Amino acid sequence: MPLRRYQDINWNLLWQQAHAERSWHSKGATDWNERAASFARRTGQSVYADTFLALLKPEPAWSVLDVGSGPGTLALPLAAQVRAVTCIDFSTKMLHILADRARQSRLANITTFPLSWDDDWRGHGIVPHDLVIASRSLAVADLAAALRRLNEFAVHKVAVTDRVGSGPHDPDAFAAVGRPLDPGPDYIYTVNLLYQMGCPATIDFIRLEETARYRSLDEALSRYQWMFQDLDEHESTRLREYLRSIAASHGDGSISLHPRHVPTWAYISWHPDCSRR
Ligand SMILES: C[S@@+](CC[C@H](N)C(=O)[O-])C[C@H]1O[C@@H](n2cnc3c(N)ncnc32)[C@H](O)[C@@H]1O
Repeated sequence: MPLRRYQDINWNLLWQQAHAERSWHSKGATDWNERAASFARRTGQSVYADTFLALLKPEPAWSVLDVGSGPGTLALPLAAQVRAVTCIDFSTKMLHILADRARQSRLANITTFPLSWDDDWRGHGIVPHDLVIASRSLAVADLAAALRRLNEFAVHKVAVTDRVGSGPHDPDAFAAVGRPLDPGPDYIYTVNLLYQMGCPATIDFIRLEETARYRSLDEALSRYQWMFQDLDEHESTRLREYLRSIAASHGDGSISLHPRHVPTWAYISWHPDCSRR
């Protein structure tokens, strides 16, 4: 049947198809547990959180639900600005790092729940919050269901970030290794689906133009390896050569990387009332 109207496009189905065909796969809780420490170290130094919070503008009296909170990239700075923060994540390792950091910073208004997107949140005592965020954590099988769920648990505002193009995956690294990169669906599906759900969204872009610095080429290599599943020896050698080609050495033995690719995230926010009207 020819498409005649914008409403004939099934954005959730398109999203599911692109999700199934992409060249990388969603990580499970075990994978995220393994990555938790290095992810926490790296994102602790990024400009990402400051930019996200500047766009978010939360009110001091608000409660915040952070879905896929990770090690507290946003929950920790947010806890100092709002009444209370509830964090959901299926990686217990991420939540342990978050709780340790909260203790060290004497933040007593964060509660964590080791839950997945698909679990029964209400059954575990999660109630609607003033603000709901899902930062870089929309790794779900059914996007429409996830967006409806965010709306259901939000009173004043929902804000998510979603990949633009390949997001954090560096296309030049894939080309160097010799693997195809099909990054899967990005933010444009989310924005269109929201529009169809009656939720016109505000969109901003967070460009991570920062220069990453590593103690050694080995450290940079292990940082880049997460993009690929099971690199063999030849692929690892090719990735190392690529990193060498974009590295600048410093006197103390450390290196900085200067890839052409700028990881970019779309910051998408909307009022949760939309799909309830
Ligand atoms: C890229 S990290 C983002 C962490 C943090 N929100 C940030 O922006 O730095 C993705 C997080 O989502 C969590 N996650 C991924 N899939 C999930 C799922 N199905 N249910 C719950 N958490 C999930 C992971 O454990 C991880 O902590």
